[in-house]
Amino acid sequence: MIPLLRLEGLVVSFPARRARAGGKRLTVLRGVDLSLHRGRSLALVGESGCGKSTLVRALLGLISPDCGRVLWRGRDLAALTRQERRVVRCEMGVVFQDPGCSLDPTLPVWRSVAEPLRAHRRTLAAPMSGRARERRAIALLARVGLDETLAARRPQALSGGERQRAALARAVATLPALLVADEPLSALDASFQGVVLGLLHEMQCSLSLSLLLVSHDLVLVEGIADDVAVMYAGAVVERGPCAAVLESPLHPYTQALMGARLVPDPRRRMALARAPGEPPDFARLPQGCAYHPRCPRATADCRREPPVYRDGAREALCRHVSLDPLERS
Ligand SMILES: Nc1ncnc2c1ncn2[C@@H]1O[C@H](COP(=O)(O)OP(=O)(O)OP(=O)(O)O)[C@@H](O)[C@H]1O
Ligand code: SF4
Ligand SMILES: [Mg+2]
Repeated sequence: MIPLLRLEGLVVSFPARRARAGGKRLTVLRGVDLSLHRGRSLALVGESGCGKSTLVRALLGLISPDCGRVLWRGRDLAALTRQERRVVRCEMGVVFQDPGCSLDPTLPVWRSVAEPLRAHRRTLAAPMSGRARERRAIALLARVGLDETLAARRPQALSGGERQRAALARAVATLPALLVADEPLSALDASFQGVVLGLLHEMQCSLSLSLLLVSHDLVLVEGIADDVAVMYAGAVVERGPCAAVLESPLHPYTQALMGARLVPDPRRRMALARAPGEPPDFARLPQGCAYHPRCPRATADCRREPPVYRDGAREALCRHVSLDPLERS
């Protein structure tokens, strides 16, 4: 079956910001392959700065990759006409990392939620009148727990959690096939994280959405994601069914992220949802396996590019992942 979304060998670089960079570019995505099928949910997990939002921007067509392809229903985004791209954009709902970005500070929240319906009025199968757009926006806001009084407020008059919910309502306004949520939980406290996760799950099931959920916390995505891809320094280092990866992580980086699991206090767990050691600098990525300076299992061989280990639906980019589960412990 053709995946709804497929990324093939995606490479993205940016001009280096440092003085004396001499026109150098930093490669922030280093050949990412991912697939997401209709109705499935995929969590993209990794620590701050590993390239998650860059990947989101690339798959939405907001930045062009240096090489590689983004395929939507099997078709290369780069080869689509402007009109075809517009249709694809209408099929992708996004909650950006900062929910404030998608809510116009000068407008009542319901208007921001209705805006995609206006912007895509020529693309939608059934165009809606202004009144119908307002009704849909109010109904969506009610669905995420924001009543008409809150819907009439400006975004500044809402709490962070309420803004996050309004951004979610906006993202699903056009009934997209894919919902991309970039760190929808990071600005929320633990109680609201559960509420927003529940809403994402409810929306995914009731609207038959595919979901790409970006998070820096591996443990938080359990229960909502079918599959997980773990990113390190711009590359996917492990992927597989979420339950299997959480049960027995293969890559040493995933194992380090899972260390957070053992801490009962959720606030400490958040603090520890990062592997020990310094995050990599894209300007000076180590030779071979980029994780080797932090890896407790590193050997001299790790200074060479690691091979991909594959076993059924699971993959890990590590030369010391063993086929024998007993040897992994
Ligand atoms: N437009 C840009 N120009 C130059 N560098 C950029 C640009 N956008 C991102 N980067 C760099 O690319 C790297 C990855 O950034 P990105 O925002 O994708 O990380 P992230 O995984 O989403 O991090 P976080 O979890 O903090 O949101 C960072 O080093 C960042 O500074
Ligand atoms: S290839 Fe080596 S350094 Fe990289 S994760 Fe595996 S054991 Fe660690
Ligand atoms: Mg980000």
